[in-house]
Amino acid sequence: MMGFSFLYCFVSLTVAYFTCSIILVHFYVYWFFLFYLTVAYFTCSIIQPLCHNNERFALLQFNQSLTIYGLGAVAGFSKVASWRLEEDCCSWKGVTCNNHTNCITRLDLNSARLSSHINSTGTLFHLVHLEWLNLANNELHNFKITAIINNISRLKDLNLSFCGFSGQISSELLDLSNIEFIDLSDNNIVTHSFQFRNLGLEILVEILTNLKVLNLKTVYIASSIPHSLANLSSFTYLSLHDCGLQGAFPTQIFQLPNLSFLRLRLNVNLTGSIPEFEWSNSLTALDISRCNFSGTIPSLIGNLTKLVSLDLSFNNFLGELPLSIRNLASLKELDVTNCNLSGLIPSLLDNLTQLSDLFMGKNQLTG
Ligand SMILES: *[C@@H]1O[C@H](CO)[C@@H](O)[C@H](O)[C@H]1NC(C)=O
Ligand SMILES: *[C@@H]1O[C@H](CO)[C@@H](O)[C@H](O)[C@H]1NC(C)=O
Ligand SMILES: *[C@@H]1O[C@H](CO)[C@@H](O)[C@H](O)[C@H]1NC(C)=O
Ligand SMILES: *[C@@H]1O[C@H](CO)[C@@H](O)[C@H](O)[C@H]1NC(C)=O
Ligand SMILES: *[C@@H]1O[C@H](CO)[C@@H](O)[C@H](O)[C@H]1NC(C)=O
Ligand SMILES: *[C@@H]1O[C@H](CO)[C@@H](O)[C@H](O)[C@H]1NC(C)=O
Ligand SMILES: *[C@@H]1O[C@H](CO)[C@@H](O)[C@H](O)[C@H]1NC(C)=O
Ligand SMILES: *[C@@H]1O[C@H](CO)[C@@H](O)[C@H](O)[C@H]1NC(C)=O
Ligand SMILES: *[C@@H]1O[C@H](CO)[C@@H](O)[C@H](O)[C@H]1NC(C)=O
Ligand SMILES: *[C@@H]1O[C@H](CO)[C@@H](O)[C@H](O)[C@H]1NC(C)=O
Ligand SMILES: *[C@@H]1O[C@H](CO)[C@@H](O)[C@H](O)[C@H]1NC(C)=O
Ligand SMILES: *[C@@H]1O[C@H](CO)[C@@H](O)[C@H](O)[C@H]1NC(C)=O
Repeated sequence: MMGFSFLYCFVSLTVAYFTCSIILVHFYVYWFFLFYLTVAYFTCSIIQPLCHNNERFALLQFNQSLTIYGLGAVAGFSKVASWRLEEDCCSWKGVTCNNHTNCITRLDLNSARLSSHINSTGTLFHLVHLEWLNLANNELHNFKITAIINNISRLKDLNLSFCGFSGQISSELLDLSNIEFIDLSDNNIVTHSFQFRNLGLEILVEILTNLKVLNLKTVYIASSIPHSLANLSSFTYLSLHDCGLQGAFPTQIFQLPNLSFLRLRLNVNLTGSIPEFEWSNSLTALDISRCNFSGTIPSLIGNLTKLVSLDLSFNNFLGELPLSIRNLASLKELDVTNCNLSGLIPSLLDNLTQLSDLFMGKNQLTG
């Protein structure tokens, strides 16, 4: 519709102007006006009071490929149900525009009860100015992720968690060169049909060097973790929970200076050990449960004084739980179930005053 009316307007203008121009011999005005119109239509460089037509059109087109399910439409639970054609699209729920350019920079349609009814492989968005996109918690299983991430190279934050995606994550992800936050977790949890096998982690960390947060929970990767991941010094959050990882875990990752959350849970073929060299002291949560870690638990673990949650359960360690665990004054959760630990149970409760969950079963601990 928009394209058509633009064309119509354009043709009428052309005819009107052409007639005028023949009389007034003002061809150059026509060309200037045409140029202005074209620029205004296709870019966001001209300041306007309202949201840009092309972006509004892109949103409506995207909306047309969706249906609202359940109570979303009836009770107005869905943000898109409140979108009104007569209103400025910058004021639509979930849409945020830049104050100066009025280009759409944020789109937050998380939990909007949206369901895709079109099998789309083309580009859904032409929102090239987007920096923040959250479509988490919707049923977008008919979309290919390519259709969503195409041509939004300014994107910094992408959240497509719980969207029901499947298939291989394609190389368009690597075009998001400014990306800092990626959450692709919990798509097809049971079948592991959302996969990262073709592309792999190595190329990802080689190209997307601004990454701070990466959550690939239940994305099937089925390879080893590249050593180069330890080069991404701005990492704060890394979850590779249940990714079918293999090989040896690169211990240098424990030294990432700002890493505060590390979860490797449920990768039974991932081997590793807890390093004895100096760690970064920024970790607040460490979960390596149900992997294949071995070796001793070094006493140095007591230096991770910011730890709030420590889960080492279902691994095959050797020896004792070091007494230095008592230094972890912020610890709320400690799980060392089924760790093949032996020796005396250290008295922890005097020291760990914050501790609320403690699991030590299935070991050879005495005392
Ligand atoms: C967006 O899509 C929903 C569901 O198809 C529809 O009810 C609503 O009217 C659409 N909004 C606009 C502004 O087109
Ligand atoms: C844009 O608007 C937001 C909210 O209205 C405000 O917090 C922010 O400071 C504004 N930014 C600029 C650059 O004016
Ligand atoms: C979408 O694709 C799936 C499998 O690729 C197919 O089963 C389904 O019928 C398609 N739906 C539509 C509306 O074309
Ligand atoms: C993406 O952008 C490139 C260059 O700007 C363009 O050539 C290409 O056609 C665009 N792709 C889509 C699907 O819009
Ligand atoms: C992604 O969105 C979900 C649902 O809103 C939220 O729970 C999760 O924390 C978000 N992830 C990131 C990295 O912000
Ligand atoms: C880490 O980066 C340095 C320099 O940027 C490079 O020489 C080195 O090979 C990288 N390490 C890995 C494991 O990629
Ligand atoms: C680590 O975090 C601090 C404080 O937030 C920040 O100043 C510093 O630049 C970060 N380091 C890296 C390598 O990102
Ligand atoms: C672990 O490795 C074995 C042997 O290579 C393989 O059969 C099994 O499927 C792997 N398990 C997972 C969860 O990747
Ligand atoms: C666990 O690691 C040990 C060596 O540390 C290896 O012998 C064993 O096969 C591994 N188990 C699995 C399931 O990968
Ligand atoms: C661990 O902490 C102890 C006491 O706080 C300190 O003396 C030691 O240097 C630390 N070791 C490392 C490797 O950080
Ligand atoms: C389990 O602990 C026992 C006794 O400490 C030790 O002999 C054995 O090697 C340990 N198993 C593994 C897989 O480390
Ligand atoms: C732990 O508690 C014991 C007994 O109350 C005390 O002697 C010891 O200094 C405490 N250790 C730490 C690291 O707080």
